[in-house]
Amino acid sequence: MMITTTRETRKGKSKLAISIATLITCLLLLSSFTQTTSATISTEDDDYITFTETQSFNEEMIIKPLPKGKSMMHFQFSTEWNSNFFDQSTFQHYDLFPRSIGDLINRVGIEEMTLVFTKGRWSYSEWGYPIRASPVGVELTAWLRPLEKGIDSQWRELTHSLSGLFCASMQFLYQVPHHTSSPSRSFRPEGTSNIYHTMERDTVPAIELRNQSSVIPLELRYGILPRESVCTENLTPWVKLLPCREQSGIGQLLNPLKLYDVHYHSMSITVRKICKSSNNDCLIPTLEIIQSLTVVNDVSNSIDNIDKNKVKVALENLFEKSTGLYSCPLATSSKIYVQNQENLNTQLTVTPTPTTKNTRFSIYDLKQYSIQNPLFLTLSWLKNFARSGPTPIVAHSHLTGYGQERGGIATQIVNQDQHPMNITYYHAIPWYLRLYFHTLRFSIQDKEYSDKDFIFKYISPAETRSSPSTIELSFEIPGNSVASISIDFDKVFLHYTEHPPDANRGFDLGSGVITAYIDPNNIVPGSSLSQDTFDIEWSENTYPHQKHQVTPVRIYTEGLLITLPTPDFSMLYNVITLTGTVFALFFGSMINILIRRFKNTFTGDDFVSDRPIAKIYRRIMKFIDGK
Ligand SMILES: *[C@@H]1O[C@H](CO)[C@@H](O)[C@H](O)[C@H]1NC(C)=O
Ligand SMILES: *[C@@H]1O[C@H](CO)[C@@H](O)[C@H](O)[C@H]1NC(C)=O
Repeated sequence: MMITTTRETRKGKSKLAISIATLITCLLLLSSFTQTTSATISTEDDDYITFTETQSFNEEMIIKPLPKGKSMMHFQFSTEWNSNFFDQSTFQHYDLFPRSIGDLINRVGIEEMTLVFTKGRWSYSEWGYPIRASPVGVELTAWLRPLEKGIDSQWRELTHSLSGLFCASMQFLYQVPHHTSSPSRSFRPEGTSNIYHTMERDTVPAIELRNQSSVIPLELRYGILPRESVCTENLTPWVKLLPCREQSGIGQLLNPLKLYDVHYHSMSITVRKICKSSNNDCLIPTLEIIQSLTVVNDVSNSIDNIDKNKVKVALENLFEKSTGLYSCPLATSSKIYVQNQENLNTQLTVTPTPTTKNTRFSIYDLKQYSIQNPLFLTLSWLKNFARSGPTPIVAHSHLTGYGQERGGIATQIVNQDQHPMNITYYHAIPWYLRLYFHTLRFSIQDKEYSDKDFIFKYISPAETRSSPSTIELSFEIPGNSVASISIDFDKVFLHYTEHPPDANRGFDLGSGVITAYIDPNNIVPGSSLSQDTFDIEWSENTYPHQKHQVTPVRIYTEGLLITLPTPDFSMLYNVITLTGTVFALFFGSMINILIRRFKNTFTGDDFVSDRPIAKIYRRIMKFIDGK
């Protein structure tokens, strides 16, 4: 569904024009949803540009068979909003766009934001590249437009609001900023609004405020919470942002019991400004919110009855929904894409016949199905098919050293492709690991690199009890080679109040981020790499990778667990229980002996206690009585 209203804005000059415009707007709103519109916005040179106010919603799902009986399902819901965002009152009328997010964008000055919740680790070498890469735990990336209140209070407001919105502990990114940093090279805005994209990668992205013709550099804040556990309580508020929630459309499949019972689960929300209008300078950007969810299921147990080498999956069984699928009534488009991977021998078959089919995807248009005639999708493919060729860039991190005093981090980045590639490595390491930067070693195939060999090198030491140390290195990695990075650190003895209140299990260290810039000219069409990174443009509603441009691919290393020297929290407890026991035993028996009096309850000799104490007592009494 597309809702279209008209708005006429003309700055300055005549007050009358404005009131007439308002009147027209009201009339049009009352006569409800005319189809065509033309409205104007003025720039300082008074040329008028026509724009339309619309909000639209698209839902998509991508299914990709993976080797060893796994499958990847990626849900993507995108809501777009075209309007005049220079006008504050725009942020008072919502339709499909979620109000809680719209308010936040306006209040905090968000140009672009990505929040990802992830459980499990994506296996890059087996599954290729994900559609949206993410580290373990929670990752928040925000490009903020500096407002009067200052960037720190904007970041504070953002983290606190998101914590409330998604029931997570993002406020710790502000309160305890061990994991908050601002990388200078590794992240670029994804959107294509008037953010300066033509500039080289090493410049600071900026936006131009049209009404003032001034250029404002954007500030990046990047935070990860590797410890955060992701659960249903985060999914519920996320689902609530969808126009159809889990009631109809692809959202019906969002069954929390099944979504968390998987190998990998990653749920994200991206807010960005893109350019949909034809004019190049993007005067009126479109605000877009993309909610995506990726799960990797193990379906190796659902063997096909006819061919034992194949797995057979019915979508509604996988997510335990007995009803079939049909489109969400509010969605402009609603489609399911099954990735064919035609160059691989997957023997993929789909039933029923797809609505359309091309070399890359079998596409089901859910708009053609209804509640009376829903889609029951069944797929079947070879359980053990092989991916063609290795994943070009993979990376791993390890801890080195032993003991509770010193240690080190080593990272290996492997280029398995024959072409050289430009890579940026970024790692933020919390202050409680004191890095010795003189021990930073970097080598490619045993060749030690010095400062001048890097395209870019930036290291910044940590501030105690505040910001983390950061390492950011850009370099060219030759084909078929391994880059090794290592650095040593001392472990800090933390104050006992700085330990988390839960049972001590060590401290989590966030993942390192590797950004590889892959040149599409070096890619064999139809290869696994091309299907992972370039063929994901399944529709016009997704990530616009500018074709024939160097595309950044992100890889995260493993999250690491570090044991810091820990005060013996259990000692106190041990001492208390031990002394308690000793005291109880000692005083208990002493008091028993001293206080208890023994008496025969029967007169005569029919009952005599034979306890030793009673015997002694009787002897003493006999002795006293002189018997
Ligand atoms: C430009 O827009 C901003 C809000 O985006 C507003 O605060 C400012 O007053 C406007 N400037 C002019 C000259 O209209
Ligand atoms: C890597 O970047 C450098 C400097 O920007 C450039 O000269 C070189 O050609 C790039 N290499 C690749 C493989 O893109």
